[in-house]
Amino acid sequence: MKFAVIHGPNLNFTGIREPGVYGRRTLEDINETIAAYAKTKDVLVSFFQSNLEGELINHLQQCYFDQVDGIILNPGALTHYSYALHDAIRSISIPTVEVHLSNIHQRETFRHTSVTAAACLGQLCGFGETGYLLAIDALLTHIGPKNA
Ligand code: DQA
Repeated sequence: MKFAVIHGPNLNFTGIREPGVYGRRTLEDINETIAAYAKTKDVLVSFFQSNLEGELINHLQQCYFDQVDGIILNPGALTHYSYALHDAIRSISIPTVEVHLSNIHQRETFRHTSVTAAACLGQLCGFGETGYLLAIDALLTHIGPKNA
């Protein structure tokens, strides 16, 4: 099983930006934890981060050509306004779980809306990096045994 973990704008600054909100661990630390967890589940994970909307869309389309089985996506602030990302998620027909480190519903009003979540299988927010691990389990449950 192949999953892609995709991080959007500013997530490369995790550990530096607003540590009270996003924690002190870097994105590299978080990716290592995800990779270790995925390994215990026999899932091969790839990682991609970009601050650019178009690059994220290109990467989502690449996931289609690479026949990725599931996607874990933290779209960062694009969550709140990127219809292009919404369309890209829908276009590729790969089960996608939206993850946010913070609980976006407890924060500024503009963060309460996700325009991308409706294109996803579901959304996990407010669990910090554990959200990415829960997303792996959610995708595995959703996909079920492959080739069964
Ligand atoms: C975030 C929440 C977004 O509102 C914010 O713009 C981010 C990070 C999160 O992981 O909590 O960049 O996606």
